[in-house]
Amino acid sequence: MLSETPIVLVLGGTGRTGGRVVGQLLARGARVRAIVRSAERLPVGVTHDPSLTVVEAEVLSMADDALRRQVEGCDAVVSCLGHNLSVRGMFGRPRDLVTAAVRRVCRIAEEIRPARPIRLVLMSSVSVNRPDRLDTRRGGGERAVVALLRALIPPAKDNQNAADFLLREVGTSNPYVEWVAVRPDTLVEGDVSDYTLHEGLVASLAKPDKTAMANVAHFMCELTCDSHLWTKWKGELPVIVDVASS
Ligand SMILES: NC(=O)c1ccc[n+]([C@@H]2O[C@H](COP(=O)([O-])OP(=O)(O)OC[C@H]3O[C@@H](n4cnc5c(N)ncnc54)[C@H](OP(=O)(O)O)[C@@H]3O)[C@@H](O)[C@H]2O)c1
Repeated sequence: MLSETPIVLVLGGTGRTGGRVVGQLLARGARVRAIVRSAERLPVGVTHDPSLTVVEAEVLSMADDALRRQVEGCDAVVSCLGHNLSVRGMFGRPRDLVTAAVRRVCRIAEEIRPARPIRLVLMSSVSVNRPDRLDTRRGGGERAVVALLRALIPPAKDNQNAADFLLREVGTSNPYVEWVAVRPDTLVEGDVSDYTLHEGLVASLAKPDKTAMANVAHFMCELTCDSHLWTKWKGELPVIVDVASS
């Protein structure tokens, strides 16, 4: 069970999806901690919310103690980090932004040894494969294309590495961290609407589905607050798609 007013640390809260997560969490009454490079890029209207605490820092270069203070006492951590869509963001450093941030959070959680596991919700992507070819929808041809993308585009490799780290190193019986890696398809604007959740991929790379960022944020917020939903999806990589797109 979570406390009635969950405390959630959000990484990437200035991003397109992360900003929506911050807004929706606050609207639900959660207490939100956000580590951002620039508070000015947070969504309009949230910065004066008394339930929001903002730390301006680069999550990968923060001192361990400073990051530990943010993780300590949290019920959940949501990462919506992503490489900025620019040449520098895609090909410059840090190439392992998402993986390195997830690693740091998990290591710190293991040091803190919380009485109840911290819920880590990672924004991932349908370009990420479940291991052992569990994504049966993706045949050999698509897997080859995705492998090529990973070789050419560092963020694609980073997203896969982050999911692999959770699956293989954190695992599904860690007493200090539990996780869900949420896999949206092509991100689109729009309000919260009906969406569906799937254990594996539902669309092909050639004919992608759409996922509203508001829906990704909604599902991520539900995961942080709803214990039944958490129990259903923990240790999984659910694919989320808009009903309107299928
Ligand atoms: N685009 C798609 O269709 C799609 C589909 C599925 C999944 N995804 C994945 O979803 C995730 C989030 O996507 P999004 O479009 O919502 O993200 P976004 O708008 O690009 O936001 C990225 C966030 O990461 C932060 N960030 C970037 N570089 C950083 C660094 N070096 N250090 C610290 N923070 C850094 C940004 O902070 P600043 O504001 O300071 O730059 C921002 O808060 C990504 O991992 C992406 O791969 C994308």
